[in-house]
Amino acid sequence: MKVIIASDHGGINIRKEIINLLGEMSIIYEDLGCECSSSVDYPDYAIPVAKRVANGEADFGILICGTGIGMSIAANKVKGIRCALVHDVFSAKMTREHNDTNILAMGERVIGPGLAREITKTWLTTQFVGGRHENRICKITEYENVSESSLERK
Ligand code: RB5
Repeated sequence: MKVIIASDHGGINIRKEIINLLGEMSIIYEDLGCECSSSVDYPDYAIPVAKRVANGEADFGILICGTGIGMSIAANKVKGIRCALVHDVFSAKMTREHNDTNILAMGERVIGPGLAREITKTWLTTQFVGGRHENRICKITEYENVSESSLERK
């Protein structure tokens, strides 16, 4: 398993915590920054991570900003990405089991490092259950493909 992680200036502390966790879990990861605490723009981090997950360079992505909202909105614009903004362990489990999410977003101004670790651990170790949920995801993928082909026609 390979994970790509990034944050804006609002998510640096939790990003460092999660990088430690990935090391403890012996998970291969790539850290795309940001490197300094001065203000940066979350789409500059969310979109590269999302593109790399979508094209198969990594299995999963983890994005952290102040609220997690900007990161999740931006990541979900990339075709093939199912990014969930998660601030509790139950949702972390459910969004892997039911939504097969491939990016996890969290907000450092919303939750503390301990909960972020538990959410991440749960999210990374929970499998997609498939079945009827597969069908639902196919409908999202179909919509993405239809939207893309209608754009090509214009
Ligand atoms: C940055 O101040 C903040 O807007 C950002 O980290 C994030 O919360 C956006 O959704």
